[in-house]
Amino acid sequence: MTDLRPTLQDKALAHGKVILGGEHAVVYGCPAIAVSIPRALELRCERSETQQDLLLSVPAWGLERRLGPTPSTSEDRLDQALRAIFASARVAPWGHHIHGKTELPAGAGLGSSAALCVGLAKLALGPQASDQAIFELSMVGESVFHGDPSGIDSHLSVFGGVVRFTRGQKPEPVRLPGPLGLWIISSQTPRQSANLVAGVKARMEALPLLAKPTWALFEAQVQAMQEALLARAFKNLGLIMQMQHQLLAGLGVSTPQLDGLCTCAMQAGALGAKLTGAGGGGCVLLLPPPDADNKDFGSQLEAEMQTQMGKIYPHFPLEIQEQ
Ligand code: PMV
Repeated sequence: MTDLRPTLQDKALAHGKVILGGEHAVVYGCPAIAVSIPRALELRCERSETQQDLLLSVPAWGLERRLGPTPSTSEDRLDQALRAIFASARVAPWGHHIHGKTELPAGAGLGSSAALCVGLAKLALGPQASDQAIFELSMVGESVFHGDPSGIDSHLSVFGGVVRFTRGQKPEPVRLPGPLGLWIISSQTPRQSANLVAGVKARMEALPLLAKPTWALFEAQVQAMQEALLARAFKNLGLIMQMQHQLLAGLGVSTPQLDGLCTCAMQAGALGAKLTGAGGGGCVLLLPPPDADNKDFGSQLEAEMQTQMGKIYPHFPLEIQEQ
C-alpha cells in the first residue's frame, strides 16, 4: 500500500437503514424503498504512539481487530474490506486505533456493514470529500462483504432520508407527508447477506421462467407501497408488507423463527410484518396500528412472543419523521 497520506480523520458518523420493501429484487434492478436510522455508528480515530498496526474495536459488536501492513493468507472478509478501503483511498492507516460506538446490531439487516464501510471511507477521505466519493469508496468495502451489493445500504448510510432506490439510477426521495411509526424485532440470529443473495440467484437460475414475473410482482408491490406511504393508507401498507414477506419466503430467505415473529406481531395487532434485509435471521419490521400507544403495543408484543416463542426478543420502536 502506498503511504501517501498517513493521517486519518478523527471522527466519522454513518447512518444505518431499514428496507421497507424490495430487498433482493433490488439486486436485479427493481426499486426498493428504505429509510435511514440516523447517526447509528460513530467512529473515533486516534493515532497511537506505541503500536504500528491498525486497531479496530467496536465493543457493541464484540469486535477487536488488529491488522498489520503485510497481509496474511488467513484473512477474513473484514480484514479484506479494511485493506480494500484504505488501499483504494491510497491511505496508510497503520498506527491508528479506530473505536466504534453503535446501537445497531451487527449482521442483522440494519446496515451495519455499510455503516462501517461508510465510516471508514469518511475517516480515509477527510472532510473535503464529496458524499458521492464517500459512497463509492464505501462500496469497495461492501463488495468484499456482500459480493454483489445493490448499493442501497451504502446510499442510505451516506445520504440518509427515505428513498426509492433503483440500482444504477439516481435515488428518488420519498417525501412522507407525516411521521411514520414502525417497530423492529431482532431475531438474534446472525447471517451472511452474501450467502442469502447467492441462494436467491441460484433459485432464480433454476427457474428462469419465473424470474421476470417474480421481479415484476416485487416492483408492483414497491410501487403500491410508495403510494400507500404517500397517502398514509396504513391498512394497505400493512397488507403489502404481508404480501412481501410471503414473496420473500417463497424465495427461500425466511425462516420458521422469522415467520413466528411476524405472527406474534400480527397477533399483537400490527397491520403488517415482514422480514427486512437479506433474511435468514436478522430483523422483522412491523407496522403497529396507527394510533397505538408504544407502551401498550410493546407489552402486547412481549406477551405474544413469550406465549408463542417462549422468549421475548429485543424489540424497539422506530419513528420516521416527516420528510
Ligand atoms: O445486508 P442486508 O441484510 O441489509 O441486505 C441487503 C439487501 C439485499 O437486497 C438483500 C442485498 C442488496 O445488496 O441490496
